[in-house]
Amino acid sequence: MNIGVLTSGGDAPGMNAAIRAVVRRAISLELRIFGIRRGYDGLLDGDMVKMGVESVGDIIHRGGTILHTARSERMLHPEGLDLAAARVRGAGLNGLVVIGGEGSLRGMAQLCKRNVRAIGVPATIDNDIAYTGFCIGFDTAVNTGTEAVNRLRDTATSHERIFVIETMGRHSGHLALAVGVAGGAEAILVPEFRPDMEEVCKRLRRGLDRGKVHSIIVVAEGAVSGFEVAKDIERHMGLETRVTVLGHVQRGGAPTAFDRLIASRLGAKAVDSLLAGGADLVMGIKGDAVVSTPVGQVLSHKKAIDMDLYDLAQDLAR
Ligand code: F6P
Repeated sequence: MNIGVLTSGGDAPGMNAAIRAVVRRAISLELRIFGIRRGYDGLLDGDMVKMGVESVGDIIHRGGTILHTARSERMLHPEGLDLAAARVRGAGLNGLVVIGGEGSLRGMAQLCKRNVRAIGVPATIDNDIAYTGFCIGFDTAVNTGTEAVNRLRDTATSHERIFVIETMGRHSGHLALAVGVAGGAEAILVPEFRPDMEEVCKRLRRGLDRGKVHSIIVVAEGAVSGFEVAKDIERHMGLETRVTVLGHVQRGGAPTAFDRLIASRLGAKAVDSLLAGGADLVMGIKGDAVVSTPVGQVLSHKKAIDMDLYDLAQDLAR
């Protein structure tokens, strides 16, 4: 059996650990494994290389992806999808492991419709894939964001300023919520709820009333721009406010032990599943177990924000 592996879409810390697990599990099961470079673009261009045990040495602790990644424009069109499926067959691949986020899984679902046997491994700092508690990269991004909040809190306290910190997350607030709770933010704005600036000002005023003049507000990029929030605070409250947009800083860095662990488990299980005849599935973490769910089902559900955590955040942010 010949298997291909690719990383696609935005990179996420832990992708390398997942590639390593796919390659080494495949080799231990006596399968041939090919690394496809630059995501689906590399597949379309036939850019692939046979991988050996040594080709994934010394990468478990590295951020980014040794296979490189891309957001493939061509995969959004039927001609591109047909060509990609033809490339899989032409290369003699009997199975494909796709490591990436929502867009990557959408591409995979289209390939499955074209009779490609593929298994998805969820990897995105946004953590917005349904049927898995965790996506590879999320934990590292939460830690990076929290470390940033810690640092900004120092300067916010010294200068008695308000800091608005904008996280990534695209259309979802999982990352902002986790960073906000872990960083002890006074307010957290996520796209799942309309930004309520009155409530934010109320919280700031409550702090002021008890002599607290510094505050941290965490904003998900999909909710509202951090600069808008800062402008509102300065206009309505006259408080000196600074904005930090964390941006791609959250996508880099060495993966946490947690991300390496889930990447290793999800990657290996994806290969096991292909060997056992599995197809059209996305691996996931549920409790302590690795589970798999049909890709169509995964893509038709929006992963809801954790309401218990959201309510807790409101309660603790004082
Ligand atoms: O999906 C991961 C992510 O980092 C999002 O949080 C963000 O909105 C987007 O990718 C940025 O994409 P790009 O790196 O293509 O600008």
